[in-house]
Amino acid sequence: MTAYPSSIAIIGAGVSGLGIGWRLAQAGCKVTVYDRGNAGRGASWAAAGMLAANAEAEPGEEALLGLTLASQKMWPAFARELEAASGIDIGYWETGTLVAATNRDELEHLRFSYEFQRDLGLAVEWLSGAEARQREPYLRAGVPGAVWAAQDHQVDNRLLAEALKRAYLAAGGVLHEDTPVSGLDITGCRVTGLQIGEALHKADAVVLAAGSWSRDLPGLPAIALPPVRPVKGQMLSLRMDAKAPLVTSVLWAPKIYLVPRADGRLIIGATVEEKGYDPHMTAGGVYALLDAAWRAVPAIEELPIDEMWVGFRPTSRDDAPIFGATGLDGLLIATGHHRNGILLAPITAEAISREILTGQPMPEALPFTLERFRDVAAPLRMATG
Ligand code: GLY
Repeated sequence: MTAYPSSIAIIGAGVSGLGIGWRLAQAGCKVTVYDRGNAGRGASWAAAGMLAANAEAEPGEEALLGLTLASQKMWPAFARELEAASGIDIGYWETGTLVAATNRDELEHLRFSYEFQRDLGLAVEWLSGAEARQREPYLRAGVPGAVWAAQDHQVDNRLLAEALKRAYLAAGGVLHEDTPVSGLDITGCRVTGLQIGEALHKADAVVLAAGSWSRDLPGLPAIALPPVRPVKGQMLSLRMDAKAPLVTSVLWAPKIYLVPRADGRLIIGATVEEKGYDPHMTAGGVYALLDAAWRAVPAIEELPIDEMWVGFRPTSRDDAPIFGATGLDGLLIATGHHRNGILLAPITAEAISREILTGQPMPEALPFTLERFRDVAAPLRMATG
């Protein structure tokens, strides 16, 4: 008999839930994942797949940096293991990331970010405009300078989700799609399972990993209610000639990022909107994306539009993830990844599965428990939220 909880139920089949489920199934647990829709079709589907801990480091996010760098370091081995387990090439691609300024004002802003990142010892290099255009020849002429983050890469997030699903199932995990969870089964102060309609699914531990929907679980006690909300992002992709792509590294420019895929898609994102679950692409959103992309790479105007979509980032009150124990025995949480869900997938899987298997949180995850919101987020009492 195992010493750790052997029967685990997970709410949410995104890259977080499936990654946690995969690790637990590998360890011999009996794992069941429930999703209200199809696996991997929420924020995991909408993302761009950037793995950019260095280039995206911002002042005020120093604590988060420990987590993002630790996860970024895990990525090469995680990708190899997942590809072997699933038989799917997940498009992990070591392209590097270029952050370009397109005018003198932006150059000053970029220099400030660069100095902040350099002083933290991050892997960033200052490039002149000519050096930037050597890397990306289709950048607008006259680009005054850029930062090169040689260790910031990308993965195809949609293939990642598919591979995690396949690896999870191959390890013996059970997946129920189109199956909303209708409540928690609580005995005393302990979560002892899930309610699925009229049915009861008993479990030793439950993990809530439902992205921005994590707040909406019916009957979730206030003590465990994560301060997480949807932050809407509109995105689109263009179709390049895969043999002669206009962009070859992940490219950031003011208000925009462009992510080239090996199959010729060029992912362009993203708006950042406080509109709840508004599912619409808007004229203004598409205009803003294309205008900013065109200012960086004018030749995109010739490319056909491939697809447009909307996603909902699960964003916490401080933009950092919420990991681990909830104050309600038997219930753990993994949400609030905001812009970093794909980058943080390996460490999310590791941190939550390890906490379940050993009872000990991972040191890197300790600053990110729900506890940090406690004084302002939820009263320390049992009440339904
Ligand atoms: N990680 C990219 C975004 O949130 O738009």
